[in-house]
Amino acid sequence: MKAVIFDLDGVITDTAELHYQAWKNLADSLKIHFDYKLNEELKGIGRMDSLNRILNFGGKTDQYTEIEKIALTEQKNTEYVALLDQLSPKSIYPGIKEFLDTLRNQNLKIGLASASKNGPKILELLEITDYFDTIVDPVSVKMGKPAPDIFLKAAEQLEVHSSKCIGIEDSEAGIHSIKTAGMFAIGVGTEKVMKAAGADLVICDTKNLHWDQIINTVNHQYS
Ligand code: G6P
Ligand code: MG
Repeated sequence: MKAVIFDLDGVITDTAELHYQAWKNLADSLKIHFDYKLNEELKGIGRMDSLNRILNFGGKTDQYTEIEKIALTEQKNTEYVALLDQLSPKSIYPGIKEFLDTLRNQNLKIGLASASKNGPKILELLEITDYFDTIVDPVSVKMGKPAPDIFLKAAEQLEVHSSKCIGIEDSEAGIHSIKTAGMFAIGVGTEKVMKAAGADLVICDTKNLHWDQIINTVNHQYS
């Protein structure tokens, strides 16, 4: 293995609650019910796709023009970005910093494959930008997760064949993206959900990300 490619939201830090608050306020203003169940379904899903799912859920798909929808996503994002200011290095999930140090010591390349256009800003707030050899601009890929595009783009930018990459994700869409990109997939979450999505290795908590265990599982699988 030559590279590890990370998702951001839900793997490196918990931004799901902040997305929830911003989407909830927007949905309330549009008189659409929004709850944690729907928020869960938006994990890994890009901004406009997320809005379309919310409008669809509220039966209002046809009520807004494309220009109005862009304005709605901007409204949500302005609120979300203001909420991001509460992030600091303390917001990094347990074990992630140590894991990044280990990857570096093992001379592995490190990439970010997040659907979030706020990815670079979040890495800066967490003060871990320097660990990343590459960050994929989600605007540069044609299809969002579950399509493989963003993980393939990360591998291309790192100049590593996808079969030599490990992807780490917390969303079902993200695991599908990693697997269709031909990579080894680590799922952060519950065994049942992550296995069903196709994860090769499941960890319930980021503090359980141990390189030795990962590489043993990889070797076992490919032997
Ligand atoms: C991640 C999150 C999604 C979010 C998407 C776009 O994939 O899991 O919930 O919608 O990024 O984020 P952005 O910051 O660009 O709105
Ligand atoms: Mg995620």
